[in-house]
Amino acid sequence: MKFELKNLTRRFGDRIAVNSVNVEIPQGQMVGVIGRSGAGKSTLLRMINRLQEPSSGSIHFGDQEVSALRGAALRHWQRDCAMIFQQFNLVPRLDVMTNVLLGRLNHRSTTMSMLNIFTREERIMAIAALERLGIEQTALQPAGTLSGGQQQRVAIARALMQTPKMLLADEPIASLDPLNAKIVMDALRDINEREGITVITNLHTLDTARNYCERIIGMAGGKVVFDGPPSALTASAVQEIYGSDRDGAGIDETMTSTAINIPAAAISSGASQSVGIEHLAGARA
Ligand SMILES: Nc1ncnc2c1ncn2[C@@H]1O[C@H](COP(=O)(O)OP(=O)(O)O)[C@@H](O)[C@H]1O
Ligand SMILES: [Mg+2]
Repeated sequence: MKFELKNLTRRFGDRIAVNSVNVEIPQGQMVGVIGRSGAGKSTLLRMINRLQEPSSGSIHFGDQEVSALRGAALRHWQRDCAMIFQQFNLVPRLDVMTNVLLGRLNHRSTTMSMLNIFTREERIMAIAALERLGIEQTALQPAGTLSGGQQQRVAIARALMQTPKMLLADEPIASLDPLNAKIVMDALRDINEREGITVITNLHTLDTARNYCERIIGMAGGKVVFDGPPSALTASAVQEIYGSDRDGAGIDETMTSTAINIPAAAISSGASQSVGIEHLAGARA
C-alpha cells in the first residue's frame, strides 16, 4: 500500500514550517528524516498522524485520502500509524503493563475503555510485546521509575499494541545514552524488517540515519532538499541540509553525531541492558 504526501504545507502565521512536500513511500520502508532544529521534521510527522492539520496539500494511503478523514475513520488512521516521542509520553504513575495496554484503547468500545477492562488476549499480547523488547521484568513497576531507555521500549511496546501499519518516531533516541539509543534503534529496525511496518523516524544525528535507514529525507526550511539512499548523501548534500555555520565553515559530520559506536567495554559493563538485544536476536532465530 503506497503512502503519499502531495504538496503538503503547514503555515504558522506567516512562517512556513513545512513547504510543499512531495514524498511517496512504499509499504515497509525504513525512512530517516534529518535536518536542523526548526527544519519542519516534527510538523511533518504530526501532520501524517493528523495531530496537526495541513494548511494545504494532502496525505494519501492507498486510495484513502488521510487528510480528509473525520470521526471514526480518523481514529482508525491514528491507530494505524502509531507514534513515539523523544519524551516517551508514558503515564509515569501507572505500571508498565497498564501503559502498554493503553495502546489498545483505540481498538475498544468506549464503555470497555472507560471501565479499563482489558481482555485476557490483550494482556497476553502486552506481555509478549514487553518480552520482545526485553523488559517484561518491569511489567509491574510504575513507568516513571524506569530508565529513559526502558521507557522508550515501553512506548514501542505500547505502539505495537496498536498493530500499526506505520510507526512514526519523533527523535526517539535524542534523550538516550548511546547504548540505549542502539537498543531502541535496533528494536525499530527489527519491527520494520519482521513485520514489514513502515518506519518514519526523525533523527537528530546523521550517523544514525546512515546506519539504520534505507532512505533518508533531508529537510531545510520546511522543504525536502534531499531524498535518497545513504550512499547518495554526499558532503555537498549534507551541506545543503544542514547549511554552514555562522563562520561560513562547512558542517563537520561529527557535530551531528552521538556516536552509536560503543566500545566493547561499555557493552559488557551494560550487560543487563543488552539482554534486550539478545532477546530480539533470539526471537528472530
Ligand atoms: N505550534 C507552533 N506554533 C508556531 N510555530 C510553530 C509551531 N510548531 C512549529 N512551529 C515552527 O515551525 C517550524 C518547524 O518546526 P518543527 O516542525 O518543530 O521543526 P523540527 O522538528 O525540524 O525542529 C519552526 O520554525 C517552528 O518554530
Ligand atoms: Mg522536532
